[in-house]
Amino acid sequence: MRAVSDIIHKGGEIKEIRTKRLSVIVSAIYTMLTVSNVSRVFESDTGMVEALRDINLEVSDKEFVCFIGPSGCGKTTFLRIIAGLDHPTSGEVLLDGVAIRSPDPERGMVFQEYSLFPWRTILDNIAFGLEIKGVPKAERHDIAQKYLELVGLGAFERNYPYELSGGMRQRVAIARALANDPKVLLMDEPFGSIDAQTRNVLQGELLKIWQKDRKTVLFITHSIDEAVYLADRVVVLSARPGQIRSIIEIDLERPRIRTSVEVNVIRERLLGLLGEARAQECGETICWTGVAAGTD
Ligand SMILES: Nc1ncnc2c1ncn2[C@@H]1O[C@H](COP(=O)(O)OP(=O)(O)OP(=O)(O)O)[C@@H](O)[C@H]1O
Ligand SMILES: [Mg+2]
Repeated sequence: MRAVSDIIHKGGEIKEIRTKRLSVIVSAIYTMLTVSNVSRVFESDTGMVEALRDINLEVSDKEFVCFIGPSGCGKTTFLRIIAGLDHPTSGEVLLDGVAIRSPDPERGMVFQEYSLFPWRTILDNIAFGLEIKGVPKAERHDIAQKYLELVGLGAFERNYPYELSGGMRQRVAIARALANDPKVLLMDEPFGSIDAQTRNVLQGELLKIWQKDRKTVLFITHSIDEAVYLADRVVVLSARPGQIRSIIEIDLERPRIRTSVEVNVIRERLLGLLGEARAQECGETICWTGVAAGTD
């Protein structure tokens, strides 16, 4: 571990690690993803926008990491860089020691909007990546069917996206990402537009899949409740330019009890950190402590 200036233990459940440069390196048994000094500045006709500044992070194999931070702080930009859809202005990202330069099926992305092909059946949507790879039809349909069943939609293989609800379509998007057998699953607010009850169900299903399939997951959310329910670690980003403000490690058994004291303690801490990040953004002090809602 490098440059760690402060380690706080609270109630035996929270480990918060801050560094002098507001960036964190956490040592791990097997580090799959290494993000080193990543910054991203967008240049356009209207001027320059510094989206990310000096991000340093290591993610272990099979780890579930959630990212929260104010709107516009660079979360999507960060995920797009890891997906290879965008590039840092400086710094680099290594996956298993190899620099990421372009998209690859080893990094599956699930977007906030339902990004299915409307003219393809559900099965052919899931099989799309395999088709691109040249996997024979019978084989890719077998694989697609397996993942369709994994997300609880085994009976919908011949339907079209418009015949499914939003939550079901998002499950298809997850199945499609998983069917490519990615090393890393990148999820950008995948449940953001889904009603609270369905969202809770999907979180539970995602955890079951993760426990069965053990992918490394990077998951962006605006919901503290969601982050505490899902993550091994929660990375809190500052307002733009996004920098790592804190990392909260959550060492609680799954499935977590959303109303337990331990979960509430962590939720409260995250609310405080996010409130501070927002206050920094607004230039004013807002006290979020005590706000009961899980989403913001
Ligand atoms: N292609 C682009 N060109 C110019 N500016 C961009 C581009 N993409 C993102 N930005 C800017 O970078 C900043 C970060 O955007 P980003 O989408 O990463 O934020 P975010 O944290 O995902 O926000 P939200 O929570 O609202 O989804 C914003 O100010 C945005 O306007
Ligand atoms: Mg975003």
